[in-house]
Amino acid sequence: MTELNQQTLTDLQAGAEDAIGSAETLDALGAVEAEVLGKKGSLASLKKQLGGLEPEQRKEFGQLVNTTKSAIEAAAEARRSELSQVARMAQLEDERLDLTELRDEVKRGHYHLVTQARDRLEDVFVGMGFQVAEGPEVETAWYNFEALNIPDWHPARGSFDTIFVDLGEPEQVMLRSHTSPVQIRTMENQEPPIYIVAPGRTFRTDVADATHLPAFNQIEGLVIDKGITLGDLSGTIDAFVKAFFGHDVKTRLRPSYFPFTEPSAEFDISRADGSWLELGGCGMVNPQVLRNCGIDPDEWQGFAFGFGIDRLAVMRYQLDDIRELVNNDVRFLRQF
Ligand code: DAH
Repeated sequence: MTELNQQTLTDLQAGAEDAIGSAETLDALGAVEAEVLGKKGSLASLKKQLGGLEPEQRKEFGQLVNTTKSAIEAAAEARRSELSQVARMAQLEDERLDLTELRDEVKRGHYHLVTQARDRLEDVFVGMGFQVAEGPEVETAWYNFEALNIPDWHPARGSFDTIFVDLGEPEQVMLRSHTSPVQIRTMENQEPPIYIVAPGRTFRTDVADATHLPAFNQIEGLVIDKGITLGDLSGTIDAFVKAFFGHDVKTRLRPSYFPFTEPSAEFDISRADGSWLELGGCGMVNPQVLRNCGIDPDEWQGFAFGFGIDRLAVMRYQLDDIRELVNNDVRFLRQF
C-alpha cells in the first residue's frame, strides 16, 4: 500500500491532473474522477491511513489531503466545462441545416410588371376611397354595349373590334371588349353612392404589333354620388396621375365622344419633353346609362373613366414593344 506522505500526495495530484487533462470525453473524465476521488478511489485509501497517525500529524496530513482533493476537484471541474463546451459545439454543428445551396441556386420570382402596375393602381385608388370591383370576361351584348348606350345600329359598335363567342343568338355573347360593363353590373347590384375601380382583361380582334395586343388589360373607374361635377372628374384624374407618375406630371382633358358619357373627354398626361400622351377616356355618366341601371339621373350624377394598364406599363418602363409583356422571356421579365 502506498504510504501517506507529502510526496505521495504530490504525485497523486500530478497524476490525477494529467489524467484529467487527457480525458477526451465527459465519460472518460467521470472515470478518472471515480478512480481518484471516489469512495474506493486512491485518495480515499490514503485518507484511511490518517487514523493511524499521531494527532499532530493527523491534523497536518488531514489538511494536505483536503487541499489535494480540492485541487483535483477544481481541475476536474475546469476540464468538465471545457468538454461540455466542445460537446455543445459538436451538437450544434451536427444539427445545423445547410442552406447555402438554396441561397445560391434558387432565384426567387416576382410579380409580372403588368400585375405590379395593376396592384399599384389599385393601391392609389383605394387610398382615395375607391373599392375594387370585378366582372366576367365573357359578357352579353347588354352589358358590353346596350346598357352602355351603344345599341346595335350604333357606329361605335364597329370600333370595338369585338371577339364574339359562338353561343346563343349571333353577336350576343362576346369576350368583353372593355371593362365598362363592370360599371353596369356594379350599378345594377349596388345602391349609390358608388366609388369603384375595376381592373381586368379585355379582348379585341387586333393583331399583335408593337402597340397592340388582342388580349390586354384595362382599369375602369366609376363614381356615382350627389352633386358630382366635371371638376371632380378632372381633380380625381389629376390626383391619381400625380400619385402614380409623380408630382411633376400634368394632366389635361380633350373633348371626345363616347356613347356612355356626356360630355366625354380623352385625358392626356405631360411628358418630360413637354409633349402630351393620351392615357384614356372619361366623362360624366350619360343619364341614359343611369336610367338603364334603375338610377334616377335627377338625383344622382357621376363620372367614369377607363384606360389601358399594359400601355401604362409600357409608358412607365419606356418599353419599345408592348409584345414584350407577353413573350414570357425571363431575361426581360427579371429586369422589373
Ligand atoms: N371603354 C372605353 C374604351 O375601351 C374607355 C372609356 C372611355 C371608359 C370613357 C370610360 C369612359 O369609363 O368614361 O375605349
